[in-house]
Amino acid sequence: MSDFEPKIVAFCCNFCAFAAADLAGAMRLQYPPNVRIIRLPCTGKVDALLLMKAFEEGADAVFVAGCLEGQCHFIEGNLRAKKRVSYVKRLLEEVQIEPERIDMFNLSSAMGGRFAEIVEEMTERVKKLGPTYISKKAEVVKS
Ligand code: FES
Repeated sequence: MSDFEPKIVAFCCNFCAFAAADLAGAMRLQYPPNVRIIRLPCTGKVDALLLMKAFEEGADAVFVAGCLEGQCHFIEGNLRAKKRVSYVKRLLEEVQIEPERIDMFNLSSAMGGRFAEIVEEMTERVKKLGPTYISKKAEVVKS
């Protein structure tokens, strides 16, 4: 299990988390390369189906990163995303996947360091859990 490199999908709002990820890169901050970023106009665009689909496609963890609460450019997109993430945690439990594999974070575009910490935190969390039974199967099919 020590060579397990988790696949993490991050749904990031264009105005904050995506800009923060960009800033982390510009600041040359080191963070695990396990994350695939999907840029959204607002986290309000994510729905439960999209989040579950990421797991179905083999992600070991998913996070949604939106603007700070009260600062969403579409007023309450990030609050809607937060509710959807909570809902997906319950769905994951029903299909025997640990709910800690999904989380929601709020940050500003100036928080490049925080973005790097989030990726680090999610990577460590998932390394402890190991791959999901879906991503394990996907690895077997590949090899
Ligand atoms: Fe950033 Fe809505 S605009 S979360």
